[in-house]
Amino acid sequence: METSKRGQWGSSFGFLMASIGSAIGLGNLWGFPYKMGKTGGFAFLIIYLILVALVGMVLMLGEFALGRKTGKGAGAYTALSKKYSFIGWMAVISPFLILSFYAVLGGMVLRYCLGFLVQIIGIDGFAGQGSDFFSWLLYSDSSMLLFLALFMVCTMVIVMGGIKGGIEKFSKAVMPALGVILIILIVFIAMQPGAIEGYKFMFKPDFSLFSTPGDFFNVLKVASGQMFFSLSVAMGINITFGSYLDKKKSLQKNATIVPLFDTLFAVLAGMMIMPACAAFGVDYGQGPGLLFASMQKVFLDGMGGTAGNVMGFLFYFLVFIAAVTSSIALLEVLTANVVDRQLDKGKEPKRKKVSLIFAILVFAIGIPVALDALGSGGATVKAPYELLGLTTDSPGFAMWNDCWLDFYDMITEGILMPLGALFMSILLGWILPKLVKNECEESGHPFKGYKYFNFCFRIIIPVVMVIVLWTQIQSFFF
Ligand code: PFF
Repeated sequence: METSKRGQWGSSFGFLMASIGSAIGLGNLWGFPYKMGKTGGFAFLIIYLILVALVGMVLMLGEFALGRKTGKGAGAYTALSKKYSFIGWMAVISPFLILSFYAVLGGMVLRYCLGFLVQIIGIDGFAGQGSDFFSWLLYSDSSMLLFLALFMVCTMVIVMGGIKGGIEKFSKAVMPALGVILIILIVFIAMQPGAIEGYKFMFKPDFSLFSTPGDFFNVLKVASGQMFFSLSVAMGINITFGSYLDKKKSLQKNATIVPLFDTLFAVLAGMMIMPACAAFGVDYGQGPGLLFASMQKVFLDGMGGTAGNVMGFLFYFLVFIAAVTSSIALLEVLTANVVDRQLDKGKEPKRKKVSLIFAILVFAIGIPVALDALGSGGATVKAPYELLGLTTDSPGFAMWNDCWLDFYDMITEGILMPLGALFMSILLGWILPKLVKNECEESGHPFKGYKYFNFCFRIIIPVVMVIVLWTQIQSFFF
């Protein structure tokens, strides 16, 4: 392997910051709070935490090991044997589709961030729409495309800089700042009257969900998709990042720290958003609009004045940076996959050109997401259900979901990721049960908890994945 041409992390800290940066993103700040808000707080939190321990952490370790052992990104499966190539392909399609909606959301966040920034100096940042800005933005095709493009340019420039000089450097600089901004916002919001109701929603034990199996399986499906997305597992990402890691580093330590931080950040994001909604009378069951419409209301109408503008800017800046540290990881999976192939063929790798081509392709695939007004109807691009002439009660409606974002999300989070995780766990639990242990021990650290990991790979993950896939497939027909 030509390490120097492929690239390598400069330090353990850099690797950790990049991995934590990839994990922490819109999944934590947008997905986690809104999904928790919609499915009922506490029960979702508990199921999510169990899934992280039994599925997420275990898969992440498996992926780091696969990447470092083979020295490849998503091509790791092919490097083990050609017959496993299909798992690698699934691991590349997911980031491609995810990035194309991620960048649309990231672009919107950037627009909000700039909106609050100019408000600080007294210019109206929301096109005269005030807190109705969300509905306006969704139908403003030129803004949606412009900010999608800007977000992709930011992502591409960093990925073009390579592993050490691009991804690592950026992540090391911004990740600690991210933690500081989050704490400032949490403390500020905690001091607002009425915030306490938000904490109660999250932490007051309520087990009623567990008595209705249908609801329980549905929450399990939602929490599992969220877990994949948030930890960036079941895509090529941890494999790719692991492949740039040298043999001396402890994989187990890293595969514990990253999920811990990611989960902590998701819970802290909830502790920022739920109390903010409670304090300013905004509904937290709002769904995907929570991050945009609801939070804008909190800062613009609830807090108001300069404090509202400064806090609003800080909030959206935090989300923007978190989104960029994730989108660079997504683009890196795609880029590394091609760079590896170029190196295998003995060619000079063309990282810059490859990232540019992928950025353009992602932009193109993101266009329907940007122009369908998130399925609100009457937009320039019709949502999948409109194209097929379906209504909410038509059979198969769920399969064609209500907008392009949900459609891409359903293919990845709902199908490709659980399926990929199922194949991977069978591979690492039954076919190559010693791979993870042996690779971890390369660093000279004894492997801890072999029985636990092996049991999760062999039994727990396959069973949970089959339940999740079954619940997903069923939802297409009923
Ligand atoms: N984990 C990121 C988030 O929670 O927003 C999303 C993500 C990043 C998914 C990188 C996949 C990935 F490769």
